[in-house]
Amino acid sequence: MITGAEIRSAFLEFFRRRGHEVVPSASLVPDKDPTLLFTNAGMVPFKNVFLGTEKRAIRRVVNAQKCLRLSGKHNDLEEVGRDTYHHTFFEMLGNWSFGDYYKQEAIAWAWELFTREWKLPKELLYATVYRTDDEAADCWRSETDIAPERILRFGEKDNFWEMGEVGPCGPCSEIHIDRGEGSCDQQHVAGHICGVNAGCARFMELWNLVFIQYNRTTDGALEPLAERHVDTGAGLERLAAVLQGVRSNYDTDLLRDLIRFTEGHAGKRYGAGEADDLAFRVIADHSRALTFMVADGVLPSNEGRGYVLRRVLRRAARHAKHLGFDQPFLWRVTGAVISTMGAAYPEIVERQAYVEEVIRSEEERFAETLDKGLALLEEEKAALRSRGTTVLPGAAAFKLYDTYGFPLDMTQDILRGDNLGVDVAGFDACMEEQRQRAREARKAVAEIITPTGAHTSRFVGDRIYEWESTVAAVIVEGAERDEARTGDRVQIIVPETPFYGESGGQVGDRGVIETAAGDRVEIVDAQKPRGDLTVHIGAVQRGAVRAGQRVRLRVDRGRRDASRLNHSATHILHAVLREHLGTQVRQAGSLVAPDRLRFDFNYHGPIPDAELWRIEEDVNARIRENAGVATEEMAYPDAIKMGALAFFGDKYGDRVRVVRTGNYSIELCGGTHVERTGDIGVFKLRAESGVAAGVRRVEALTGEGALAWLHGREQLLREIGELVHGSEEEVAARVARLVAQQRELEKQLKQIQSKLAGSQSDDLLRRARQVDGITVLAAEVEGADDRALRDLADRLRDQIRSGVVVLGTARGDRALLLAAVTRDLTKRYHAGEIIKRIAPLIGGGGGGKPDLAQAGGKDPAKLGEALEAVYQLVS
Ligand code: ALA
Repeated sequence: MITGAEIRSAFLEFFRRRGHEVVPSASLVPDKDPTLLFTNAGMVPFKNVFLGTEKRAIRRVVNAQKCLRLSGKHNDLEEVGRDTYHHTFFEMLGNWSFGDYYKQEAIAWAWELFTREWKLPKELLYATVYRTDDEAADCWRSETDIAPERILRFGEKDNFWEMGEVGPCGPCSEIHIDRGEGSCDQQHVAGHICGVNAGCARFMELWNLVFIQYNRTTDGALEPLAERHVDTGAGLERLAAVLQGVRSNYDTDLLRDLIRFTEGHAGKRYGAGEADDLAFRVIADHSRALTFMVADGVLPSNEGRGYVLRRVLRRAARHAKHLGFDQPFLWRVTGAVISTMGAAYPEIVERQAYVEEVIRSEEERFAETLDKGLALLEEEKAALRSRGTTVLPGAAAFKLYDTYGFPLDMTQDILRGDNLGVDVAGFDACMEEQRQRAREARKAVAEIITPTGAHTSRFVGDRIYEWESTVAAVIVEGAERDEARTGDRVQIIVPETPFYGESGGQVGDRGVIETAAGDRVEIVDAQKPRGDLTVHIGAVQRGAVRAGQRVRLRVDRGRRDASRLNHSATHILHAVLREHLGTQVRQAGSLVAPDRLRFDFNYHGPIPDAELWRIEEDVNARIRENAGVATEEMAYPDAIKMGALAFFGDKYGDRVRVVRTGNYSIELCGGTHVERTGDIGVFKLRAESGVAAGVRRVEALTGEGALAWLHGREQLLREIGELVHGSEEEVAARVARLVAQQRELEKQLKQIQSKLAGSQSDDLLRRARQVDGITVLAAEVEGADDRALRDLADRLRDQIRSGVVVLGTARGDRALLLAAVTRDLTKRYHAGEIIKRIAPLIGGGGGGKPDLAQAGGKDPAKLGEALEAVYQLVS
């Protein structure tokens, strides 16, 4: 049997022999398309090559691309596991021509690979072409020996491929296979007739050959591209099912091994019953998605990619629970995923410990609320039944979401089993209400950035603080004007700028943009909505600005310089952390601001203080070495060959900027840096903490900031010294002595208080009266709080041995009453009852147990009266 791994390498090898360069899979997180959450087809990383905005030296490429189909319009998370051929994560095998070969070769090679290399029976294969694509139909006839009646024509829906609303597109040609009558899963549908593109599992698409020749623009028009390209995609899991002769993708080695792993731990068998089988498939599929998402830098969160990750994990966790797992289990499946796929995707092997840690702690987190949420859902179900309705109110679904972490689709999924639904509009309304609250809270700080179409801007360099340019565009916030006047908030774009736009963790520059005539805009931030566009955000202070004006741009140099120190320091810190903690340490995020730096990296636990000190010492030693910091541009592969560290989860263009510090750090980085490390001056660690599962954060100061902080500490020490009358050296000893004295004094105070209380109780005792042979004491005491009153009552009760004690006290405008009855009398006198009767006299209420009760009231003047009433009550 040919394995999934063998199919993958045979595909790559087939095209390598035909002049294609084998390239690694791009990240699941697309870098070139902010509108796309995840890479969902093999062509995504090449989008700009098709559009002609990115040039490649290589014109033939082949790869296996990790894909996720989990977001956007087409989100069928709930379907996955219910059938045998949908997946969240899958691998797409593809070959590409960038303006090189076209239909003829693409069709001939696909046929050759399928029928000659893999020996798929020709009589089971069909080729489809776009309605009007005679050229492709001719190629099938001339380049292959497919029977002419098996070449079928279809319309837009099936044979015109588009990546989305906009972007590269073109007619396509697909190869389908007939898997035999028994494979149809639509027989229950009246009038169903099996056929290509008829919607059943009998005819399955195996390979899609797209002939890219247009760009769909925002107005819906098709714009011919300068060159014609080929984009093909074949799902590895489906191919494996066909080539391994199994009916379900889950029976291929790619997924069966994962199911086997779960069987072993669950002590249950796959194939024994549909409910369990669904769970087995969900766990197998989702574990692959989770492993790859986390390895590509996605972390669980409540929005965007992180929330997709969370939804997948929670759905899988629920199914694991169904199979009987009470402890986190999904993180263990990661190991099985890595053993089946690690050879093809080394990044998951490299990050195994990290991936496991992230998944496990997210599982643990969800386990805390999963049971409670399921219990609540059961209650809600019962309530629906008793009301005779079938729709869960939106507010209930929202509570499950907000308090118990149940994604809406998961709640729907669970209810579906009982033919119940959710009031989605009601859920959305609750969500919107919450969003609105959050929006209002954020409004004060929000900056709205308008990324404008065709403009681009070039950063002129990290040692340049002033530059002349011509305004390309002006966007006045909140107005439809293209001239900004005094007082307007404005966004300005110029073709060349000395302003560093926020990126790579480094904050955007501030400064001014002004004209020779005295117009002046204060710039408070620079942002990069796209890699090649900087937007200057600010307010017009004097005059006006409009497109076409000649302007001088001046960066706030002090601020930039301070950021430079912090940025270079993060590179040194990164290198030193790897030396101390191991080379698996990788940057997971950073903030480089003028006044501080923050560096996040993956590591499994807290770093001991002693280690942190050594790290700080080493960073400072590197600073004093005063090595040079050099930047240069080079081809991406050259940089990687040199050992450059790429930011975890980031993707880079063909040419990259490399920052080299001494002989110990090489990083891909677009930021601004010092000339020599000595410029940094001092590096002072401020804090180390955990920010997410497996991610640690270090915060630090450099240069003047570090010095200012040290001065602050010194000042503080001096102030404390003055307070305790000691020099800085003596402070600790003095404070220790003061603390010891304080403790001693508190002890003495307690003794005195208890003596005082003793004599007070003796005094009080003398005021006890005998009522019908019972000792009754009702008295007011001064300045006691709750606690003191109770202690006193306890003491009196002990002293009289048998009797009733009621104490009252006034505290400001409040009165307090407390009644105590000795145990032998609780059958006859109930402290709670006594309190209930007298509390109204002081304008309050209360109660308690037979032996002890208390009440508060707002009329202290009536205390005497209330206490006097006790004697009558007892008699
Ligand atoms: N881009 C084509 C697809 O995703 C190959 O089907």
